Parts: sequence; C-alpha cells; structure tokens
Amino acid sequence: MPAAPQRLFVNIDHVATIRQARRTTEPDPLEAALRCEDAGADGITAHLREDRRHIQDDDIQRLAAGIHTVLNLEMALADEMLDLAERLRPHQVTLVPERREEVTTEGGLDVRRDPDRLAAGVARLRAAGIRCSLFIDPDPEAVERSNAAGAEAIELHTGRYAHHPDDPEVLRALQRAATQGAELGLAVHAGHGLTVRNVGAVARIPEVEELNIGHSIVSRAVMVGMAEAVREMRVAMLRARDR
Ligand code: PXP
Repeated sequence: MPAAPQRLFVNIDHVATIRQARRTTEPDPLEAALRCEDAGADGITAHLREDRRHIQDDDIQRLAAGIHTVLNLEMALADEMLDLAERLRPHQVTLVPERREEVTTEGGLDVRRDPDRLAAGVARLRAAGIRCSLFIDPDPEAVERSNAAGAEAIELHTGRYAHHPDDPEVLRALQRAATQGAELGLAVHAGHGLTVRNVGAVARIPEVEELNIGHSIVSRAVMVGMAEAVREMRVAMLRARDR
C-alpha cells in the first residue's frame, strides 16, 4: 500500500536569526515563508521564544496574516504565549520546552511535571479552535501523557536520532512512539536536526504525517542561493559604473 502523503512544514526561525544579527529588515521571514510555499512547503513553522532571539512578535503577526498555507506556532506553555495564540489563532500550536540558556530546543516537553497546567493550556488552545501538538521525546510515558493532556498531535523529537543516525535502537524508539501515538488516535509529527542525509528513515515511518525542518533548509538555502546573490551585486555595481 503506498504511504500516505507527508507534510513538510518549514521552520523559518533562522532567517530571522540572520536578520537579528544586524537588527535590520532583511532577510524577511515572511518573504522566506512565501518562497518556501512557492517551492512546495505545506506549512510554515516559527518559534516565538520568550527571549525573542530570532522571531519577533511582529513577524508572527505578519506570518499569520500573510502566508497562504498554515502557520504552526511553536511556543512555551506560558500565559503571554497563550494570550498571543488566542489573539492570532494560528492553525496549530506546538508546545515546546524552553530554557533561555539553550542554543536550541534540547529535549522534549516535560509532560510529567504539572499535568494539570499542561491540560489547561491544551484546553485553552483547543477552545480557541487551534490544533495543539506537544513536542516530546519518543518515550512511551510521554506519549501516554500527551494523550491524557488532550493534545491532538505529538511531535517526536528527532534530535537524538540526528546525533546517532546509525543506532538502530534510537530509530526503533521513534518507530515505537509513532505507532503508540497513532494507536491512541494522535496525529504524529517529527522534527529537529533533520537534514537531506538523515531524513529518510524518519520519513519512512508510516505514522509520521508531518515533518518540521528548519536549520538544514535555511543553511542549504544560504549555499545554493549565494551564487545568485553575488551575481546580483556584481550586476548592480557594473550598472552603476556604466552610467
Ligand atoms: N520542531 C521543533 C518543535 C523545534 O523546536 C525545532 C527547532 O526550532 C524544529 C522542529 C526544527 O529543528 P531544526 O531547525 O533542527 O530543523
């Protein structure tokens, strides 16, 4: 039986990382999002971190209003973020853990710590008509608790797999968590650290219906787009001298 189509959501956070290096207006994450859509992305993912290190509030507003596919807003379970989600009503919110000192989202959400608070956050999002996904480690208890919290989807953290792509046990944990999630009726997503070299084994997991991929796509875009950017500048310089 052919596998069901799998959605690609492109995370454009690191377009904003480059912009924030100069606190200027380029590159614009919305323009990047529209180009991703033109290239076939099924959705756009952006993480509004509490420290606003890359994506800014204004970016989220512009993305919510300007993209043609759907927005997956990654955010921490915090009142400020829940308020913003209720106001902007993105198609989907993925709740992620957040530590200010981390370079990236290093582990899945701690779904054990305060289940009532988690369930209340999920309920607030669902009451606003927002699909709610929880970013978790591929661990049976985390899958079980995500379902108990009322989430519609789980996003399996593939960071460990990305660091150990040849360890069959690491991949098996993802496969088992995907099967468990689907059996509970959860939609199963995956992401973090995926590249064109390691995406295959995760893309082959039949239950995984959506992948969220950012850093490697933005990194590759810098490389494959660099030649054109240099050519454009050379042309602008030559034109100036021709006058
Ligand atoms: N999914 C979640 C929940 C994330 O937090 C991130 C990183 O922001 C990603 C996917 C994308 O990871 P990467 O940038 O490594 O592709």
